Amino acid sequence: MKPVVVAIDGPAGAGKSTVSRRLAQLLGFQYVDTGAMYRVVGVLAAERRIACEDVEALDRLCRETSITFRDDAEGRTHVYADGRDLTDAIRTPEAAQWASKVSAVPQVRAHLVAQQRALAAKGGVVMEGRDIGTVVFPDAVAKFFLDASPRERARRRAAELHQQVSEDEIERVARDIAERDARDRTRAHAPLKPAHDAVYVDTTGKSIDEVVQLLYEIVTARRAELARL
Ligand code: DC
Repeated sequence: MKPVVVAIDGPAGAGKSTVSRRLAQLLGFQYVDTGAMYRVVGVLAAERRIACEDVEALDRLCRETSITFRDDAEGRTHVYADGRDLTDAIRTPEAAQWASKVSAVPQVRAHLVAQQRALAAKGGVVMEGRDIGTVVFPDAVAKFFLDASPRERARRRAAELHQQVSEDEIERVARDIAERDARDRTRAHAPLKPAHDAVYVDTTGKSIDEVVQLLYEIVTARRAELARL
């Protein structure tokens, strides 16, 4: 049976994680954060001082590392590399930059894409990333490209990192995001871009509930349409 996949792509801070998680809950689907997988590879590569140019070492690292997800009692998803909990370690600004760098390496992408496809074999899944609708699941039941203004995206990311957010901090995060997005959009392999058949959603000024409801209605309509075929 073909896996039922909802693909959610978009740049950093567009609201993908919160929206994808809630949408998965509503649909009774599994939620998969593919960015977390690239972050794990980025953190491990940095720890082992593997340069992004050392494709062979990165290839070996991916081959030898088992990345798994598990929810705790509070419903927080933890990510593990060979059983080691890296949930907090992957959420630093440095980890985001390392992830973006290693994600440009085709061998890294090949390993992670294969794992992402295997994760969806078990049933319905809401998968978020940069290339889910374009490369990982071009046949996804529904595809969305979430976006927001650069300032709004920076403000949201800064708020995730700190309780009090100053103008300086927003500026710093905005520069960080701009650098990462430029790299993610211009890389040769699986660059960040909307799939030709993705629904583009600008989340600027919209509440999370509003966006989740919109996506839920579109997915439900699409599934009903497919069931009639
Ligand atoms: O979604 P995130 O911020 O956790 O992603 C971290 C980096 O990983 C992002 O800058 C680009 C890369 N990434 C990717 O290339 N492809 C994906 N499907 C998901 C993330």
